[in-house]
Amino acid sequence: MDKNIILSGIKPTGIPTLGNYIGALRNWNLMQQDGNYCYYMVADLHALTVRNDPDELRSQTRSMAALLIACGIDPERSPLFIQSHVHQHAELSWVLGCTTYMGELNRMTQFKDKAAKHADNINAGLFTYPVLMAADILVYGANQVPVGDDQKQHVELARNIAIRFNNAFGETFVVPEPVMPKFGARIMGLQDPEHKMSKTDTNPNSYISMLDEPAAITKKFKKAVTDCEPTIAYAEGRHGCNNLLTIYCACTGKTMDEAVKDFEGCGYGRLKTCVADAVIAELEPVQNEYRRILSDREYLDGVLKKGADTASERAQKTLDLVFERVGIR
Ligand code: TYM
Repeated sequence: MDKNIILSGIKPTGIPTLGNYIGALRNWNLMQQDGNYCYYMVADLHALTVRNDPDELRSQTRSMAALLIACGIDPERSPLFIQSHVHQHAELSWVLGCTTYMGELNRMTQFKDKAAKHADNINAGLFTYPVLMAADILVYGANQVPVGDDQKQHVELARNIAIRFNNAFGETFVVPEPVMPKFGARIMGLQDPEHKMSKTDTNPNSYISMLDEPAAITKKFKKAVTDCEPTIAYAEGRHGCNNLLTIYCACTGKTMDEAVKDFEGCGYGRLKTCVADAVIAELEPVQNEYRRILSDREYLDGVLKKGADTASERAQKTLDLVFERVGIR
């Protein structure tokens, strides 16, 4: 099998949710196998598109890095770094921005959603955010990008930018593709299962934070919105029930048929308890490991410095080629 080059990132805006974990982080861990080479980063530049308290952003960036290691990212094998520590991302982003059309960016659904949500701060960074994301991916020659469903459109834009650049200036970029998990590419909110689970939801009962205590996890699942159908099944329009079954499959490794069988003749109470138990079993070891790593300042600093050095060396090669291609060096 050919070796894949993989890149992915996560914004350090708050504690990640079960959605981030199932949709992306767990997959990041699995993709480190099979001889793949993975770059993983905390996307702090992307976090600037919404207002942040500077001290909070700094501390959340470190916490996120610790959490990624706790999720199984092995920094000995996969460079782990903070996006802003690798200056080549922002530089490449400028060049790519000059080959991206306003019309393309206007079509990004996440921009429309975020602009509606932050009507008092529709900044240019929010609009050009997918260009920076394309630079993150293309600067490493990544061919695979593990993401949840909501980031698929951005990876597709990165593909289009790469193809257009290659056509205009000669073969330069690897054309990337999104990789999504079999179960859980879009985990839905527990209180509003027609919308994705989000850490910025105003109702904390709608999301499971990766650092929630077991008792809180159980309580939130108990309150999850389902429906009035008498049986538990995976079926069109049964958003709440489908979401719980999907989480169950993702955390137990069972197929959907096996999951539905497990709950034959059961009520929602039993389903909710079993889903909560499966989630607790998955998250508890990650939480313990997170606390251990975060308390070892020297180790974490060392990992992030080494990760940035390795990433920067690779990124500079692409940047040199790009500058030469476009005629600025
Ligand atoms: P972010 O920080 O919003 O989310 C990180 C990852 O979690 C996935 N995700 C979900 N998956 C399933 N269900 C959900 N409810 C859910 N919510 C979030 C996201 O799809 C994502 O994979 N722009 C990116 C970060 C980024 C990036 C990159 C990703 C910056 N540069 C380059 C890939 C490649 C973001 O804001 O993700």
